[in-house]
Amino acid sequence: MRRFEDRVVLLTGAASGIGKATVLRMAEEGASIACADVQVEAVEATAEEARALGADAIALTCDVSSREESAATVQKTVEHFGRLDSLCNIAGILYFENTHQHSLEKWDQLIAVNLTGVFLMCRAGIPHLLESKGNIVNMSSTSALRGNPWTAAYAAAKGGVLSFTRGLAVEYGKQGLRSNSVCPGSVSTPITSAFKLPDGADVALLQRVMPLDEFRGPEYAASVIAFLASDDAAHINGAEIRCDGGALS
Ligand SMILES: NC(=O)c1ccc[n+]([C@@H]2O[C@H](COP(=O)([O-])OP(=O)(O)OC[C@H]3O[C@@H](n4cnc5c(N)ncnc54)[C@H](O)[C@@H]3O)[C@@H](O)[C@H]2O)c1
Repeated sequence: MRRFEDRVVLLTGAASGIGKATVLRMAEEGASIACADVQVEAVEATAEEARALGADAIALTCDVSSREESAATVQKTVEHFGRLDSLCNIAGILYFENTHQHSLEKWDQLIAVNLTGVFLMCRAGIPHLLESKGNIVNMSSTSALRGNPWTAAYAAAKGGVLSFTRGLAVEYGKQGLRSNSVCPGSVSTPITSAFKLPDGADVALLQRVMPLDEFRGPEYAASVIAFLASDDAAHINGAEIRCDGGALS
């Protein structure tokens, strides 16, 4: 499949996990890709791997929660490639904390990266995506669909991403711009391998949304993102696709 031939994709969270797997999947399918992330060396390594697959790929250092950096990242992408066809907002952070012990600083940081960052990237990208009649794929989570313990800000942000994306779908759909969300769960990446539960946490509460024995690799989420960003999903707008091995079924 070469679904991204002549397509320009800007993807945040490209240094690691699902974002990196998506870059490589799209590179194999012919995309030109701007890889954005806060991790300077790791995002350059992703772009290098994409180039080795034959893609025209650049690495851009970007903190998505910065209004200046998000706008500059879109600008640099369009300056380099001349257009933008797909914006994939994959960057995210996660930690677990008892809600009554949650600091406001951590709440603000999590909302800033996981929700405000999506808004800032979309705000900057939409004028270009309207020109190309392109699409947006935003990263939500199964935590937006069902109660998720110890992740007050994370779940709130991911629920916000779902609502925000549905709004974009209606606001811009008739102008040819599609917007959809992906809700993964139990995907093996640094975000899930490094997490630490609060002391005394009852793991069974988490198993409901994240079965700890049913993890799969990031390529399983990458394939869903690539599908939504491709013309195979031309009739899909305002949808969310769960990709969690059936945990919420
Ligand atoms: N792994 C899962 O099971 C799972 C489940 C649901 C949702 N998600 C979501 O998938 C997305 C990707 O996560 P992952 O599992 O690949 O984890 P990951 O930690 O491997 O990747 C997250 C990436 O986001 C980048 N990032 C963090 N803060 C950033 C910022 N301010 N600006 C730009 N980049 C930033 C990190 O550097 C990293 O490269 C996240 O939004 C996460 O919430 C993952």
